[in-house]
Amino acid sequence: MIMFKNQIILLSLFFFPRTSLPAPMFSRNTISVWSILKKCIGLELSKITMPIVFNEPLSFLQRITEYMEHTYLINRACSLSDSVERMQAVAAFAVSAVASQWDRTGKPFNPLLGETYELTREDQGFRLVSEQVSHHPPVSAFHAESLIGDFVFHGSIYPKLKFWGKSVEAEPKGTITLELLKHGEVYTWSNPYCCVHNIILGKLWIEQYGTVEIVNHSTGDKCVLTFKPCGMFGKELHKVEGYIQDKSKKKLCVIYGKWTECMWSVDPQAYEAHKKSEKKGDNKKQKNEEPNGAENDDADDMPEVQETVSVVPGSTLLWRIDCRPAHSAAMYNFTNFAMSLNELEPGMEAFLAPTDCRFRPDIRAMENGNMDEASKEKERLEEKQRAARKQRAKNDEEWSTRWFQMGTNPYTGSQEWIYSGGYFSRNYQDLPDIY
Ligand SMILES: *[C@@H]1O[C@H](CO)[C@@H](O)[C@H](O)[C@H]1NC(C)=O
Ligand SMILES: *[C@@H]1O[C@H](CO)[C@@H](O)[C@H](O)[C@H]1NC(C)=O
Repeated sequence: MIMFKNQIILLSLFFFPRTSLPAPMFSRNTISVWSILKKCIGLELSKITMPIVFNEPLSFLQRITEYMEHTYLINRACSLSDSVERMQAVAAFAVSAVASQWDRTGKPFNPLLGETYELTREDQGFRLVSEQVSHHPPVSAFHAESLIGDFVFHGSIYPKLKFWGKSVEAEPKGTITLELLKHGEVYTWSNPYCCVHNIILGKLWIEQYGTVEIVNHSTGDKCVLTFKPCGMFGKELHKVEGYIQDKSKKKLCVIYGKWTECMWSVDPQAYEAHKKSEKKGDNKKQKNEEPNGAENDDADDMPEVQETVSVVPGSTLLWRIDCRPAHSAAMYNFTNFAMSLNELEPGMEAFLAPTDCRFRPDIRAMENGNMDEASKEKERLEEKQRAARKQRAKNDEEWSTRWFQMGTNPYTGSQEWIYSGGYFSRNYQDLPDIY
């Protein structure tokens, strides 16, 4: 009898998230995107209705939860006593948080106003709650916390999408804040730009670019990371480079790598010396290089150059990406972490909020490979949302958010959505009926 009890306890301690979806994805080849998009150049993408085959079966709220895939890097930062090493771990976390975008060209579902998502991962030591707090413009707010009180990680994302003819660019609006509670440290940053190329012709591919500045608000120390645009010959494809500097702008260390692969740190002198010796070798090589693809007007092909990161002697590895599962390509290029996000385990219905994305019928139908139903359900939900908005306007009612409120971020002074707490007490009275 005692044996039996122990086994039950063991089972509930070791929950293994699923590692695959119920159905593979639908082929997109038969649809002409161009016929849909040619009328819309320059429009904001949220105003265009795209057929559901271009989606992936996740809500944007679930997609931003993927920032947490490498939570072990925050846990590492918490455990380090050296402040520069802590900043290195935080920088690796900031890069790893956008690594799941690699080859993910499916568009997540726009969350409905009032939609929520929660995720508790005891194995990784965190829980997260998010809410769609605004519809026009779309704003998603999230709050994650360590299960043992080591850190809080929060922010709000305003994905501003622009359609540029051949590509779609997502501007990363909103600040992300990480608080390491035991060290009394606060770091803030914003994500890089993300661009999906060749949405009409050619092979889809993703580029991230822009500068990400991670600021330590206790000291004014900074980590400046540049996500490089790929450039003419693709030499810079996926590269990220930067450094940590102190208040007096002294470079303390260099950080480099690729957001699709790995990140390293090294002493600034060693880095400069290595770069100089590389340049000498490079001058000889460059003459033979072909400007391949430069004359192709139809598609901006992803450059072929695929050399991996060349490691400077003396570097320390900060992070390396995990392999995606073998069936990933047939499943929207999801990582193992992404595969599990929409899983509805038996028993979960009893405690999830009724507004949780896992209950969205359109996403569930798409995940099961039932595209017609998914498409119908998506239309029905959007219509229901419009009707509810009209009704509110008629009654002169304002929408009120449930788990987040506008407030001032004490570290940046800016107006932000701040978690008001209480979600995990699971009082779901008066939640809106959005599905
Ligand atoms: C950040 O601020 C804390 C608190 O003042 C300080 O101890 C630490 O050295 C800083 N970290 C870095 C990486 O500069
Ligand atoms: C998955 O990755 C492959 C290989 O890069 C790419 O051709 C394909 O378009 C991607 N699929 C999705 C759904 O993004």
